[in-house]
Amino acid sequence: MVFPEYRPRRMRQNDTFRAMIRETRLAPEQMIYPLFIMPGKNKREEVSSMPGVFRLSVDQLKKEAEDCLDAGVRSVLLFGLPEKKDPMGSGAHAKNGIVQRAIQELKNKAPELTVVTDVCLCEYTDHGHCGCLINDQVDNDTTLELLGLTALSHAKAGADMVAPSDMMDGRVSEIRTVLDENDFQNIPIMSYAVKYASAFYGPFRDAADCAPQFGDRRSYQMDPANSREALREATLDVEEGADILMVKPAVAYLDIISRLHDEFDLPVAAYHVSGEYAMIKAAAAKGWIDEERVMAETLLSIRRAGADIIITYYAKEMARLLQKM
Ligand code: PBG
Repeated sequence: MVFPEYRPRRMRQNDTFRAMIRETRLAPEQMIYPLFIMPGKNKREEVSSMPGVFRLSVDQLKKEAEDCLDAGVRSVLLFGLPEKKDPMGSGAHAKNGIVQRAIQELKNKAPELTVVTDVCLCEYTDHGHCGCLINDQVDNDTTLELLGLTALSHAKAGADMVAPSDMMDGRVSEIRTVLDENDFQNIPIMSYAVKYASAFYGPFRDAADCAPQFGDRRSYQMDPANSREALREATLDVEEGADILMVKPAVAYLDIISRLHDEFDLPVAAYHVSGEYAMIKAAAAKGWIDEERVMAETLLSIRRAGADIIITYYAKEMARLLQKM
């Protein structure tokens, strides 16, 4: 069938037809909203490079949780800013650490909300790297033990799912083993399987105060030039027991999301990261773009590429827009 018998515009002529044949949709339950937890009381500090994103003290979480649930967002991803940092990042697995307290607060005050935790050391180490150092090198195998302890402490505090973002080799199997040995067989692992060494994390490092104090993360995060390596990383995580595979960042890596979706049968998550969010906010503040439409189109493109789940600072705003539509 070709023109003039076939006319693609026929099915675009009104909204009912367009909605009828729409291939991809956004849903609030597929979005995860990141939260930054800080020490102190009554704290609600806006992150300057991420308008609309706040660092919250633990006492603010009940209200935040209610706001998420009210918008239809059912899951959050926790990051912590500890009181003190040290070379081994021991705050990451402290029984009474900042994230552990936040989990308990959320589980007590908003049990319907699903709590996912970021498992990494960079917010807790004084040098800002994602693992501990031996001779100024991030040492893979000593870091694994600390990551296992961190995931376990989150599970003990009541976390529903853990998400390792450190990019050490072997961490998914380490975390799976430690969780299983401690009767947490039912806690899923959402692995940052494919995480690139990206400049789009800039605003996050302000928010979470976790910029490396020397060097960069290129010895553990992936080279943005590589896509076949992404498949290898994902394969390893599947074999190690990951339940969800994540690609990060999202928009600059839609091809990677698409490949993972095609080649694996696990759910795929994509992290629409801080820099991707900040760029839309900045252009919108200048009046150069229509923020609502660019937000919706961006998140839709991530779903269309093949992501089942989107982690985004826009989760609440997008969910509210969906409620209006
Ligand atoms: C910690 C971590 C980072 C992000 C999520 N977990 C920063 C980094 O790897 O430097 C970035 C998230 C974002 O930019 O929104 N390892």
